[in-house]
Amino acid sequence: MALDPGVLDEVLAGLGASPRTLPAKLFYDEEGCRLFAAITELPEYYLTRTEHALLAAEAGAIAAALPAHASVVEYGASSEDKALLLLDALAAAGAAARCYVPIDIAAPALTALTARLAARWPSLTVAPIAADFLAPIALPTAAPPPRVGFFPGSTIGNLEPAAARAFLARARATLGPAARFLIGVDLRKDPARLLAAYDDAAGVTAAFNRNLLVRLNREAGADFDPAQFAHEARWNAAEGRIELHLVSRRAQRVRLANITLTFSEGDSIHTENCYKHSVQGFVALASAAGWQARRVWTDADATFALHLLATGGADESNLASPGIG
Ligand code: AVJ
Repeated sequence: MALDPGVLDEVLAGLGASPRTLPAKLFYDEEGCRLFAAITELPEYYLTRTEHALLAAEAGAIAAALPAHASVVEYGASSEDKALLLLDALAAAGAAARCYVPIDIAAPALTALTARLAARWPSLTVAPIAADFLAPIALPTAAPPPRVGFFPGSTIGNLEPAAARAFLARARATLGPAARFLIGVDLRKDPARLLAAYDDAAGVTAAFNRNLLVRLNREAGADFDPAQFAHEARWNAAEGRIELHLVSRRAQRVRLANITLTFSEGDSIHTENCYKHSVQGFVALASAAGWQARRVWTDADATFALHLLATGGADESNLASPGIG
């Protein structure tokens, strides 16, 4: 399979820039999805299990803060594990979701998720959308307001603050009147713990990072030697983010499409940002995007936060009295 032409343009622009970058969505081909699933099981990668436990512990309180019979829209739905906690809690509260709309760039993973859900919960309407969740999304008529956006996993950390603000503002428009948005955000913490999570002893994250080059070889006709690029995780304190890099082990040339890339030893390709937001920092970001921060749940060790945002404003009263306005 060849890379989508729009994505190839992004790849060429990023590799032509200084410093060199690659878009993080490129990670998620089938092998990348498999490797990411393996990352979520690693002892060092605390994010997934911490968020899962927090959701499980607070599911009742979260469901009570959400509108009944909402359309649940999940951004970046690589697995249904977390959505099921939310959907189960809504059903247990007598407020069962009207439908579930998982959005993900990885079409095969989305198809598998939809099939598993259909088997497990036949009466639930599932309307998957295979798309980059950063692109404008047209929701199906099966998913009317009120809508609850769900964005777990700290995937929002992939976005630079200005892009995160723009994404949140667009989601507010997409989700419509009286929406809620539940977002999982990894918190700032000891850099040593962060670095271990992104540079695990078993080397799974290194394989995940290098898989980008394997993918470009296969889908863009490149001739990277992945073994000649070292996986590096760096804590950028000034920006508050973990960065993933692939660092050239020696001087080398690489062909890609019809261009030649020249690397000196130590030159890096910056492949991912994972921003870590304090509670106040994220609340400020959401407010700047027009959302009202309603609640935040964190685990006892302040490892991870779940933020509940609301549209606020006049449309909220329409929900309380649907006959008026
Ligand atoms: C899927 C974006 C949430 O930032 O922790 C994991 C991706 N990269 N290890 C993250 C990732 C390296 C992950 N997100």
